[in-house]
Amino acid sequence: MPSAPEKQELLPPAAIAPLPRHVGIIMDGNGRWARARGLPRSLGHRAGMQALRRAVKAARHFGLEVLTIYSFSAENWSRPRSEVDYLFSLLRHFVRSDVAELHRNNVRIRIIGERDGLPEEIIGLLEQCEALTAENDGLTLVVAFNYGGRQEVAAAARALAQEVAEGRLAPEDITPQAIARHLHAPDLPEPDLLIRTGGEQRLSNFLLWQSAYAELVFLPQYWPDFNELTFQQALQEYAGRERRFGGIKPCEDKPLQGAASSSGSA
Ligand code: IPE
Ligand code: IPE
Ligand code: MG
Repeated sequence: MPSAPEKQELLPPAAIAPLPRHVGIIMDGNGRWARARGLPRSLGHRAGMQALRRAVKAARHFGLEVLTIYSFSAENWSRPRSEVDYLFSLLRHFVRSDVAELHRNNVRIRIIGERDGLPEEIIGLLEQCEALTAENDGLTLVVAFNYGGRQEVAAAARALAQEVAEGRLAPEDITPQAIARHLHAPDLPEPDLLIRTGGEQRLSNFLLWQSAYAELVFLPQYWPDFNELTFQQALQEYAGRERRFGGIKPCEDKPLQGAASSSGSA
C-alpha cells in the first residue's frame, strides 16, 4: 500500500483558489483493489478505512467546510449478506476507533440516508456520533449511509404531498426550493466538487439533486490508494474549472456582434 504522504508535502490552502466549500466522494474500488492483490473483498474495505482517514486529514488541512462520503448506498443491500455484514461491522469499528479523535479535532459528524431498515443498534451509534459532535464547528463530515438520491427526493415529495393533503401548502408552492428544504441536510451548501475513485464515470444515486452544478472529477485509482496528494490534485483540477451555472463569463457580457448591428440599423 502506498505510504501516506506527510502533511508538509501538501500545498498551503491559500495556494489553491478557489477551494470548494463542499466536496462529495464516491469511495469506489475497494473490491477491485483487493482482487488485484488476491485478497478477499473485506480487506479492500478495511484498507478503504485508512483512505478515509487520509481524506478527512486533507479536508481539514485545506479548511473545507463539508466532506460527504458515500459509505453504503440504498442499492448496496443487493450484495452478499456476508459483505453487507462486514460493511456494518466496519462502521461500528469506525465509530469506536475514530469518532473520539474526530471530536477532539472539532469535526461535526452528520448522517444522511434512510434510517428505516437499519438495525436499531446502528441507528443508536449514528445518533450518538451526531449528538457528541453537534456543537463542533470545524469540518462537517457527512456520512451517507443507506443513502440513495432518488429515495431522498421521493421522501421530500412525500412530505410535500402530505402538506398539500393537509391544506398547509398549495400545489403551486412545490418549487425546487421547497423540495430542497425537505432533503436530509437542507442547511448544508450544495457540493461544489464530486470525486469518484475506481475509474467508473457515474453517480450511482449519490446526491442527485444537490449535484446539479457540481464539478465532477473521476479518478482511476481505487479508493484504498487515495491519499492526501490525490485529494490535492482533485482540488487543483477543480480550481482550474470554469463554473457558469448556465450563464456566461462576465468578460463575455457584451452585446453579440450581429445583434448590435441589427438593432443599430433598425
Ligand atoms: C466501494 O467499493 C465500497 C462500497 C460500495 C461500500 P466497492 O465494494 O464497490 O469496490 P468495487 O467497485 O467492487 O471494486
Ligand atoms: C457506489 O459504489 C456506492 C458507494 C461507494 C457506497 P457502487 O460500487 O455500489 O456503485 P456501482 O454499482 O458500481 O454503480
Ligand atoms: Mg463499486
